[in-house]
Amino acid sequence: MRRRRFLQGIAAATFQPALSACMRSAREEEQVEDEEPEGIALQLAAGSINRMYGSAFSEMMLNASSRARAMTLTQCASITPEWSLKWDRLAPSANSTDFTAADAIANFARTHGKRMRGHTLLWHQGVPTWAGEQLQNTREWDVVRSYFNAVMPRYGDIVDEWDVVNEAIEIGHRPDGLRHNQFMEAFGPEYIDWAFWTARDAAPQARLYLNEYGLEYFSAEEGARRLNLLRLLERLKSRGVPIDGVGLQAHLDLRKGKVYREGIYGLLRDITNMELGISVTELDVREADSGGSLEARDRAVADEVRRYMDIVLQFPNVGSVTTWGLSDRYSWLRYKDGGRRDNRGLPYDDKWRRKPMRSALEAAFLGQQSTT
Ligand code: XIL
Repeated sequence: MRRRRFLQGIAAATFQPALSACMRSAREEEQVEDEEPEGIALQLAAGSINRMYGSAFSEMMLNASSRARAMTLTQCASITPEWSLKWDRLAPSANSTDFTAADAIANFARTHGKRMRGHTLLWHQGVPTWAGEQLQNTREWDVVRSYFNAVMPRYGDIVDEWDVVNEAIEIGHRPDGLRHNQFMEAFGPEYIDWAFWTARDAAPQARLYLNEYGLEYFSAEEGARRLNLLRLLERLKSRGVPIDGVGLQAHLDLRKGKVYREGIYGLLRDITNMELGISVTELDVREADSGGSLEARDRAVADEVRRYMDIVLQFPNVGSVTTWGLSDRYSWLRYKDGGRRDNRGLPYDDKWRRKPMRSALEAAFLGQQSTT
């Protein structure tokens, strides 16, 4: 009964479609057996080349599925809370905070010796309404500072890396390529500098990252996004802003063609030359509406992942690779933007059977040709 109420709470918040499917077949999920033996665990494959493998992890996975918990523990060295560390989740109203879900995920990580990625501090989609209003009305940076001070030290023992600013680039908003968000409105472009300085104060030991999407394909838009990201990084570095690295979300998308090798390589080379770290933070693959067989679709997803991984793993400063979930059952791609509800863009299918994408990741880490 308690679990049911908890799940209904989440459903009311954001997860209606995926959730009801989950509740209907939760028992079925627990019963599924492995069809093939696992290869080497992804965390071990990644560890063999000094990288960390992790996955997004939600309170739904934590509370509703022993399978999700077990697979996460086996495969991952780190977990990224998919929702629970976002500002609107932690501070739903001006006078209240709610760390229940974030603490539960953090304790799961602590108990099992996992690291947790700090995702994410400033994100235009994660600002609680009350904070947005306060920023607009008062333009007081203390609103941001108190939030950083409340959340960063709390998880200081298990979070090594924070996404301090998420999705700061947007084409068509401003000549400098920055997104016009609530922070820009209140403080101007230097909100990014201040965010990093404030984060450094709140968690002096943590690595501080800028996390960005839309950098993988050959198009005018993504080319401009790559360029504007590099320009932003150059400006930050030239002002001595304490930024340690860049998170590449890597939401790949088969509708956009194949990943653009030269563009990605050039981006990573330039980031590397600025002596910044790199993390792949949210890897998954959105399928095209190809209409092909399951095998063909899974192969296309795996091939795209392998192409991407083979580029990024050339860079030793790519310290971690995180997929945005493990099983298609819990993938945001299944309810995002009216996308295909049977999207198969994660390593395991919705019955936790391994897919070619899982083998592609393992093979990329181990530096072998994929054999599936
Ligand atoms: C997404 C979650 O997966 C969804 O469940 C939620 O409704 C919205 O946020 N880029 C990010 C992530 O940085 O935080 C987003 O996560 C996906 C896009």
